[in-house]
Amino acid sequence: MKFKNDLFLRAARGEAIERYPVWLMRQAGRILPEYRALRATLSGFKELVETPALAAEVSIQPVDHLDVDAAIIFSDILVVPEAMGLPYQMLEQKGPWFENTIRSKEQLELLDKNIDVADRLSYVFEALKITKRELNGRVPLIGFAGAPWTILCYMVEGKGSKTFSESRKFLYTQPVVAHELLKRITEVTITYLKMQLEAGADALQLFDSWAGILGREQYQIFGLNYIKMIVEAFPNVPFTVFSKGAVASLPDISAINCTTIGLDWNMDMGSVRDMVGESKTLQGNLDPCLLYASDEIIEKETLNLLKSFKSQRHIVNLGHGVYPDIDPEKVKVLIKTVKNYEI
Ligand code: CP3
Repeated sequence: MKFKNDLFLRAARGEAIERYPVWLMRQAGRILPEYRALRATLSGFKELVETPALAAEVSIQPVDHLDVDAAIIFSDILVVPEAMGLPYQMLEQKGPWFENTIRSKEQLELLDKNIDVADRLSYVFEALKITKRELNGRVPLIGFAGAPWTILCYMVEGKGSKTFSESRKFLYTQPVVAHELLKRITEVTITYLKMQLEAGADALQLFDSWAGILGREQYQIFGLNYIKMIVEAFPNVPFTVFSKGAVASLPDISAINCTTIGLDWNMDMGSVRDMVGESKTLQGNLDPCLLYASDEIIEKETLNLLKSFKSQRHIVNLGHGVYPDIDPEKVKVLIKTVKNYEI
């Protein structure tokens, strides 16, 4: 496949680029009026995720309307626990909700074994195929999954939480069951990501949204060990590990064989660069709240970030997903600033 714009892939691989690529986590979603219009005609979020033609349509919307340098497939990290036998609902205003949770060996045994990933997640692969075809080489397509620790958090907690204390408690009280669950999530995730590549994904990202609630040692044992197994199954694939909040673990993350590390806005770009050298691409890391500021401030802060780069191995993004009430015009100011910046 020949790309019209492959800046994202070149930056990930550490090849020469003419300018820095830019995309936003959660770019496919509620910030776009086109997304909201489509979403309003449907029964809910899951109908959109599970209808490949529509998921493809919203994956491409930010490429059409925001002119980003990469598309990300419209889906959710929670499709994996569902495929393992733990269905979720997405409640309006409230977020994810699981009827059953995994808090014991007995409950772990109730999960489905030896699942057929190709069948259970066929809607994601179908959406990737359509998206890839319709993008027609305009920009690369990113596939993704949740990292095992974050998926465990939702399977144990059954819903969102500020502290995920049930999940942290689980690590202390039932470490053997926790490792068994993490192992099973890891196996399914490797198969799932392989199939995403076969269906058309050009790059992969693992979202470890709750990495930052563990201390460094626990995150190594229950988080990074499994991420490492996943990454090692994908040599030569542009692969981003985004461990949100895991500031203390950055030396451990940089020891993983991924091409790219995602940084949140608590992390210091310059220090991380000094630590990892030129062996990794860094993605991030503007505060999502910057997009509430005036155009002048958005431009100034974006330029500050760009000027802080000491090499070409960068992909510009926010430090977490874009908030749904952000004005897309503000996103365009950020994107324009990146695109006009000369390396
Ligand atoms: O544009 C993209 O980034 C692709 C789509 C995408 C979604 N979720 C769509 C979505 C991606 C990459 C995700 C990942 C995801 N999902 C994460 C990791 C990234 C992060 O934000 O930390 C997590 C933790 C989830 C789980 C999840 N999904 C929650 C907690 C919620 C509710 C909160 C919210 O933002 O509404 C969701 C719902 C969700 N996932 C929406 C979208 C567009 C909103 C639902 C809607 O439109 O009604």
